[in-house]
Amino acid sequence: MSRTRRAITAGAIALLPIAPALVAAVVTASPAHASQPLRAHAEARGRFIGTAVATGQLANEPSYRTIAATEFNQITAENAMKWESTEPNPNQFTFSGADAVVAFAEQNGQQVHGHTLVWHSQTPSWVENLDATGMRSAMNNHIAKVVGRYADNPVVKSWDVVNEAFNEDGTMRDSFWYRKLGSGYIADAFRAARAADPDAKLCINDYNVEGVNSKSTGMYNLVKTLRGQGVPIDCVGFQGHLSLQYGFPGQVKENVQRFADLGVDVRFTEIDIRMKTPRDSSKDAQQATYYRNIMDACLAVSRCVGVTIWGFTDKYSWVPDTFPGEGAALPYDENYGRKPAYTAIHDALAAGGPDPSDTTPPTAPGTPSVSSVTSSGAALTWTAATDNVGVTGYDVYSGTTKLGSATGTTLTLTGLSPSTAYTVHVIARDAAGNTSPASGTVGFTTLAGQASGCTPSYKLVNSWQGGFQGEITIRCTSAVTSWKTTLTYPSGVGVTQVWSARMTAAGSAYTFANADWNGTIPAGGSTTFGYIGSWNGTGTPPVPTFS
Ligand code: XIL
Repeated sequence: MSRTRRAITAGAIALLPIAPALVAAVVTASPAHASQPLRAHAEARGRFIGTAVATGQLANEPSYRTIAATEFNQITAENAMKWESTEPNPNQFTFSGADAVVAFAEQNGQQVHGHTLVWHSQTPSWVENLDATGMRSAMNNHIAKVVGRYADNPVVKSWDVVNEAFNEDGTMRDSFWYRKLGSGYIADAFRAARAADPDAKLCINDYNVEGVNSKSTGMYNLVKTLRGQGVPIDCVGFQGHLSLQYGFPGQVKENVQRFADLGVDVRFTEIDIRMKTPRDSSKDAQQATYYRNIMDACLAVSRCVGVTIWGFTDKYSWVPDTFPGEGAALPYDENYGRKPAYTAIHDALAAGGPDPSDTTPPTAPGTPSVSSVTSSGAALTWTAATDNVGVTGYDVYSGTTKLGSATGTTLTLTGLSPSTAYTVHVIARDAAGNTSPASGTVGFTTLAGQASGCTPSYKLVNSWQGGFQGEITIRCTSAVTSWKTTLTYPSGVGVTQVWSARMTAAGSAYTFANADWNGTIPAGGSTTFGYIGSWNGTGTPPVPTFS
């Protein structure tokens, strides 16, 4: 797919606030009625409906701004958060465009999906020209600064950490990232993003991965492998740049479901459905069906968190510039008139939606209890809520982040991050979309992750009055590109110095992860790291336990 690059103007942007009454009416709309905006229906279903936004139009065009604010509860910067916009020169950051998008979302009760951190396109040539060491540190620095800027901002909920890393046959794209850093750049990028914002959902995003095919299977296998290694990847994005001439992709719902079954959220991130121009009513109808199919595929799987369209009006779309002879890909025409595609999105979101006559919410469920905590999951049980009509399900939250849903009173959480403290509560809902008060909260901390197939072993190298030197060998039966191990000492022992690994300490538990250069261990291979411990006892220093 060829991409045209356009100069980005990220000047200072004046934002006109939307009338507060209008916004309040939209964000509190639950249950939703047939004539309500898309976002009211999406909110009633616990999903987002989003759009890409361009900073120029947001600043200059009231009609554009009004529709973006009233119809959508999620936005993505079309260009303003890309590397060429945020770090045009080494370590010189410009956030004017990105900040304007975030400010618009704050004003309008929307969530922001950050797009995108590591991509081969729209990244300045100085990055491409770095040597491997320089490129690795530029990547880490870029992620730390860009994600870090919004880490404490509650509207910025998620990031495309790596974009378009695959070839059509499912192998890794031969990008400058891959050529210089090897496939490990992906795991490294996710780790850097998690370090910069532990709460953000971190996604891998690509095009032509909507249905089950070689490319989506390559992505599926990578996500599975990385999660097995404890790499913090929370979600996948299917861009969804479709064209009527190529037909609707096969097995979209099945594809969403198989990723969901890996424990990751799924989102459609950049939907547009282009046609050969000019439009006519039969193409419009076919396009509406495609939009409906995408919406239905997402709504069918609870881990599909929402759909973002790549702009909303045919007046502003990358399609005609990029795919000559094609266009009219969005749900509003060039005069902001609604097309059949709009109705299709609306009706999909409203279908099977809430019954407006029941306005009584369920009672709060019981405070959950936790068992079977692992590095990536935990089992929850709670007592049932009651409702005048009937409880249809429960949602489990950590703060404002939904971790999962259940129809009964138990849920095994999956896809959690290792060594992370969670405080969770449960909310019940009924068929009308009424939601209960929150249950009491319960806290737990996941165990440290470890690459599967690797076993650590300990050796005492030397000891002296007041301390000792330990050495750990990590042996792997299958090949890994990263590893991690946690060892715990009785009180009175501290680790004061470490080499050939990165250490984080939590109480008496010390987690050691591979250094940049020794993450890769071949099948049957091993690597070692060493450390100095402080200890004031006599005899042989205590042996650590591994977890
Ligand atoms: C496109 C923008 O829409 C254009 O304005 C820009 O000139 C090029 O990029 N995949 C992506 C998006 O991940 O960032 C691209 O956006 C479209 C394809």
